[in-house]
Amino acid sequence: MKDIIRQQMSITASSMDVLNQQIQMESKASASYLAMASWCDQNAFGNSALFFYAQAEEERSHMMKIFKFINDSGGNAISPEVTDINHDFSSLEEVFVTALEQEIEVTKAINGIVANAKKTDDYAVENFMQWFIEEQLEEERSIRDILDLFELMGRDGIALKLIDERIKTE
Ligand code: FEO
Repeated sequence: MKDIIRQQMSITASSMDVLNQQIQMESKASASYLAMASWCDQNAFGNSALFFYAQAEEERSHMMKIFKFINDSGGNAISPEVTDINHDFSSLEEVFVTALEQEIEVTKAINGIVANAKKTDDYAVENFMQWFIEEQLEEERSIRDILDLFELMGRDGIALKLIDERIKTE
């Protein structure tokens, strides 16, 4: 049955496998952002919390985009299990540093999918992933901009409040 599904797919089997891994990664990113939103909420960083709630939604939409693409290509999208979500942060800056590290890992994984698609002449996947490449650039940039604020404004109580006020929530 599995082999028949693979023969009817319009993407390669190896693309389907790495795209399913990406579904897992986007889902974990969504859950991690929710944990970050919760930490920000509990520590009275309201705009940061809104930022991370929105990020959590976005990552879920990325996951769904890939999920639908696999099934629309005749493949088998796998609903991910997500475990080991970190809720423990020591500062607002650490939350954003962790967010950036997470995005860098996602970018690497997306580059890996594109490299694999090129290697296997899977043009449909290579084309599909272009949107994600742009999206990653934008996401990394927006978090780096926020991290710059810590350098600019400092890390004491007042500075953190001012940084939180400057964080865009949409
Ligand atoms: Fe969908 Fe920001 O990774």
